[in-house]
Amino acid sequence: MTEPAVDVYLTEDDAAQSLRTDVHNGLTAQPKWLPPKWFYDARGSELFEEITRLPEYYPTNAEREVLATRAAEIARVTNAKSLVELGSGSSEKTRLLLDALRDHGTLGKFIPLDVSATALREAADQISTDYPGLVVHGVVGDFTRHLDRLPDGGTRLVAFLGGTIGNLEAGERADFLGAVRAALEPGEYLLLGADLVKDPSVLVRAYDDSQGVTADFNRNVLRVINRELGADFDVDAFQHVALWNAEQERIEMRLRAQRDMRITVGELDLDVEFGAGEELRTETSAKFRRETLTAELSAAGFELQEFWTDKAGRFALTLSQATD
Ligand code: SAH
Ligand code: AVI
Repeated sequence: MTEPAVDVYLTEDDAAQSLRTDVHNGLTAQPKWLPPKWFYDARGSELFEEITRLPEYYPTNAEREVLATRAAEIARVTNAKSLVELGSGSSEKTRLLLDALRDHGTLGKFIPLDVSATALREAADQISTDYPGLVVHGVVGDFTRHLDRLPDGGTRLVAFLGGTIGNLEAGERADFLGAVRAALEPGEYLLLGADLVKDPSVLVRAYDDSQGVTADFNRNVLRVINRELGADFDVDAFQHVALWNAEQERIEMRLRAQRDMRITVGELDLDVEFGAGEELRTETSAKFRRETLTAELSAAGFELQEFWTDKAGRFALTLSQATD
């Protein structure tokens, strides 16, 4: 196998500095919150993979169904020479796209980008082995900061799968989609996976599974802060909470303090008080409707070409083209 090239834009020092800033801002805010990107150390990435195999967590299978049905059409329409994948994780479903683009005969390069260096390197190595002749050029980076540095590689298709777009707040989404558009030439493509609004009980079950894997994933952010910033969170003293915010049409994951606590974050010289019952918001996962998603894409300079869903109508895959 040819060793895949990996560019590191998010160095360990840079990641540590961003984590310090986010933890300081989030734990001194009212209400307290943290950005979801800090779940994904090696253990967090593995826990996410475990979530994707849970019976309650439908988005992965639903998106895989759409990709399996539409991959050949995506290859035909886009003629992509390079596939860029943002928040690529294990890139497991992405193989359906790689297969279709390879069979179509246009694909030369695969560019996965992720904040999780372990997940990125593992996936890049496996794909290099399994796709001889494909140039794999990984990027350890933050898709909210490093899109201006994507390697080039001919007609590009940018894939942003899994519904990760929903983990950005509305303003962040507009900035993110604008940055994707700015990174592309007119005529290049964005393939975006987005989870759809549905019965709240189905949604809540997907984020509060019976085996407690999502609870473990949620608490993992506290382990990351303990290890990286010398904090002393008693991880088991926080209860996993997943609730449907009907007004904002999003699932919110929180960690609820089970008793009064005083947390010290050694590296920040920071003491933080939690009252019993106080909640720390760790993730929002927005659910979309066709009209609002199309409007957000259009506002960022993308023209919707296709809006596909799985048979049960749970999850959407959209294909859009960058406009002039
Ligand atoms: N695309 C995969 C993985 C989704 S999990 C799928 O569909 O199953 C979300 C992925 O995005 C994780 O691998 C996580 O490490 C990555 N991620 C989260 N925030 C990120 C950010 N700001 N920049 C880059 N990657 C990010
Ligand atoms: C990565 N992202 C789309 C997942 C989601 O569904 O919002 C993360 C996740 N959080 C809890 N379960 C899965």
